[in-house]
Amino acid sequence: MMEEPLKIAIAGMGRMGAAMAERLLSRGHEVTVWNRTPQKTKLLAAAGAKVAATPREASRAADFIITMLTDAAAIDATYRSADGLLAGDVRGKLFIDMSTVRPEVEKALAASVNAKGAALIECPVGGTVGPARDGKLFGFVGGEAADVERARSLLNDLCRRVEHVGPVGAGASMKLAINLPLLVYYQALGEALSLCRAVDVEPARLIDIFSDTSGGPNMLKVRGPTIAATLQGKETSPVTFDVDLMRKDLRTMLEEASALGVSLPLTEHVLERYDDAARDGIGASDATMVPAYWLRRGSA
Ligand SMILES: NC(=O)c1ccc[n+]([C@@H]2O[C@H](COP(=O)([O-])OP(=O)(O)OC[C@H]3O[C@@H](n4cnc5c(N)ncnc54)[C@H](OP(=O)(O)O)[C@@H]3O)[C@@H](O)[C@H]2O)c1
Repeated sequence: MMEEPLKIAIAGMGRMGAAMAERLLSRGHEVTVWNRTPQKTKLLAAAGAKVAATPREASRAADFIITMLTDAAAIDATYRSADGLLAGDVRGKLFIDMSTVRPEVEKALAASVNAKGAALIECPVGGTVGPARDGKLFGFVGGEAADVERARSLLNDLCRRVEHVGPVGAGASMKLAINLPLLVYYQALGEALSLCRAVDVEPARLIDIFSDTSGGPNMLKVRGPTIAATLQGKETSPVTFDVDLMRKDLRTMLEEASALGVSLPLTEHVLERYDDAARDGIGASDATMVPAYWLRRGSA
């Protein structure tokens, strides 16, 4: 049965924020959206969302405020600016940050939100645009138990699985950890395929073999056909998770590792390779283009 409609604002109408807004509208919630570049709110307005002129206005319109933003700088600008999410009276509201950032960014944000008499939980997610639109994300939640319970039905509308892993910061740690093997994998797949040059098997079959063996993670079962198409020269479109975001995540992991005093040599190497890829012009291309890029580059 449909739960009570909630008043929800979402700041950040990038690929993920827009897909989540679509999903929450389809669940019957009252959704207000804000984006730094206003043009990106047009499709959501047509789908029934209200559009706020400033983050402050977005907070005013809602009880639950979700943020889905690139990085720490975007969070700072959206929450703490003169017209930011925290500029007005936000007492009693619940903020849910879903961006992929370091734990310390979430902890500092929770302190800023608490100082205004409101609460914050974090819920960075696994899954890309399709799962966001279908309510099939995986949420790594950090926060106080009572706040998480308050957000439970909303999170269930967005996620196929919600894991409350500890206080604010714990969700960010989990998300960075989960993304590490995935991001390394795209490079590993490119290198593995370069060993198959002498194997006369067409790309779709080759990728299918990888995905049905320990040569492939879960992701390959879903994205395998897209990757196979890139091996035959097709560009992935629309882009859902680009190489520049992969580089941002890898940099964030390395910063976190340095704060923890642990070393991530593989992650460092992979970031260098993706930095090369961005210099070669594929920073805005989808992650699924990486293996094909590596094969082209390797044969150059
Ligand atoms: N894409 C995925 O598959 C995926 C999956 C899981 C998690 N994530 C994480 O989710 C977050 C968003 O990803 P995305 O793919 O939606 O990225 P995106 O399409 O690049 O959108 C980024 C959003 O952040 C906003 N933003 C950036 N800098 C800002 C600033 N200084 N002030 C205000 N707003 C700013 C952008 O506003 P403008 O439109 O004005 O630039 C846009 O709304 C990232 O942390 C990413 O790592 C992504």
